[in-house]
Amino acid sequence: MGYKVAIVGATGNVGREMLSILDERGFPADEVVALASRRSQGTEVSYGDTVLKVKTLDNYDFSDTDICLMSAGGSVSKEWSPKIAAEGCVVIDNSSAWRYDADVPLIVPEVNADAIASFRKRNIIANPNCSTAQLVVALKPLHDRARIKRVVVSTYQSVSGAGKEAADELFTQTRAVFVTDPLENKKFPKRIAFNVIPQIDVFQDDGFTREEWKMVVETKKILDPKIKLVATCVRVPVFVSHAEAVAIEFENPITADEARDILREAPGCLVIDKREPGGYITPYEAAGEDATYISRIREDPTVDNGLMLWVVSDNLRKGAALNAVQIAEVLVNRRLIQPKQKAA
Ligand SMILES: NC(=O)c1ccc[n+]([C@@H]2O[C@H](COP(=O)([O-])OP(=O)(O)OC[C@H]3O[C@@H](n4cnc5c(N)ncnc54)[C@H](OP(=O)(O)O)[C@@H]3O)[C@@H](O)[C@H]2O)c1
Repeated sequence: MGYKVAIVGATGNVGREMLSILDERGFPADEVVALASRRSQGTEVSYGDTVLKVKTLDNYDFSDTDICLMSAGGSVSKEWSPKIAAEGCVVIDNSSAWRYDADVPLIVPEVNADAIASFRKRNIIANPNCSTAQLVVALKPLHDRARIKRVVVSTYQSVSGAGKEAADELFTQTRAVFVTDPLENKKFPKRIAFNVIPQIDVFQDDGFTREEWKMVVETKKILDPKIKLVATCVRVPVFVSHAEAVAIEFENPITADEARDILREAPGCLVIDKREPGGYITPYEAAGEDATYISRIREDPTVDNGLMLWVVSDNLRKGAALNAVQIAEVLVNRRLIQPKQKAA
């Protein structure tokens, strides 16, 4: 008997990717249910060769559902995840609603799969922010080798990280520039077409944005609370994949060659690092791929034991949907959940 899996937010950027990834990876699901808001009731989404009719989340009965992949934003998750969890369905949440709750494990399977053990406290497991997920996949093997003291990261984040309406805004604005229509900013605080915006999420009192704060707190929770991190998060006019320029300071010596060898063997990482024109990965090439790509590995001559990296990954996959499905796989492979008895 297989599992019954529900996807809340199945019509969204991440939800659609979840459906593809469940199918691609042959997740042992007997039934997959697509849920969204009332606006989408009856619309269709693809799950492999099957077309699923979208049902509304309101009043959906989760009592025979084993796993809920929740991808409908923080407020929906705050309201619904505890109710769904109380019906004995494990929620794997993509929003930031539960990430900082001490009773909710925050998991990137390549980094801290063992931390999943405490998931029964709330029956909720959190998925990190997209920019954190790819970063910690690259940092973990280097931390194991040379102990990271401090990280300075600048992100170049695609518009799909802000949802499907944000991706539409880049398209519409780009078109408007060419046909000389007036430009309208709805999802972004400034024009995104042919521009870059040094603000993701809201500002805090200390001058950092909430996105920058998330990278600090999530890296500590997933990897090591002793790591100091400072971030500048920037939105760029790219549809899919986030890139990050990362400067790392270690306690112990590590050369660029050693780092390259370590990352070549590390789970989830793919090194593309030729010191020649085009010998690195760009967001366009990482889109649709599962790996966290690492390029431009070099020593930082301005500090002791410093390295610089360029890290790129598909934010809708490793940054969200793939990571969520990998968490579900950990639950299944470690026999942490069993399929519920289904009504005949
Ligand atoms: N995009 C990324 O890179 C990324 C990475 C990590 C985490 N996340 C998180 O993943 C979540 C989804 O992001 P996204 O990019 O897929 O957003 P999106 O494209 O805007 O999709 C949002 C989804 O949520 C559904 N939804 C909205 N309100 C709902 C309600 N009241 N009840 C049920 N469903 C509702 C929408 O359904 P309708 O079509 O019916 O409106 C849609 O399916 C967010 O929490 C986001 O922070 C995203």
